[in-house]
Amino acid sequence: MEGIRSLFSEVAITARVEALAREIAQTIAGDFVVIGLLRGAAVFVADLVRALHRAGARPGIEFMRLSSYGLAKKSSGEVHLLADVATDLAGRQVLLVDDIVDTGRSIAYAASLLRQRGIGDLWTCALLDKPERREVNIDIDFVGFAVGDVFVAGYGIDYAEKYRHLPYIGVVD
Ligand code: IMP
Ligand code: MG
Repeated sequence: MEGIRSLFSEVAITARVEALAREIAQTIAGDFVVIGLLRGAAVFVADLVRALHRAGARPGIEFMRLSSYGLAKKSSGEVHLLADVATDLAGRQVLLVDDIVDTGRSIAYAASLLRQRGIGDLWTCALLDKPERREVNIDIDFVGFAVGDVFVAGYGIDYAEKYRHLPYIGVVD
């Protein structure tokens, strides 16, 4: 059975999320809605919106669900929309939030879908970024931590549906 080696502690994540929220609140003026990508980003979004509140922002909260890795460590390369946002976003400023940007396909897919609907300005945010793994050209405006080519889990992020409940992020060996 695989094991988990701690990479980012609970304390380190909390500090980084607070700093990220201050950066976001300084950058995005006025009304905006956070759109989290389920299920991986749910825990991050829950902490991020409260940190945004402390930083003076008052964002709306929405979620979209994209197809996942399933039980594998490698992406199938195909992204599908499994559940959509529930409100009309025309003209709204959007902060699109995912747990990890790996090849970039998921967040690029969600961003292009939202842009087709005539939203206002769009920013992207990921708790973790794996720049070495990128296959699609997409700018991530706000990054929590950059990581190498490792497979991680915890803090909402799963490996074969395990470990989402961990309060820290670890490498799956
Ligand atoms: P991308 O479409 O290749 O950028 O993959 C992004 C999605 O893959 C993220 O939303 C995660 O759900 C998942 N993912 C990427 N890397 C990892 C990992 O190391 N552990 C668990 N899930 C991952
Ligand atoms: Mg995901």
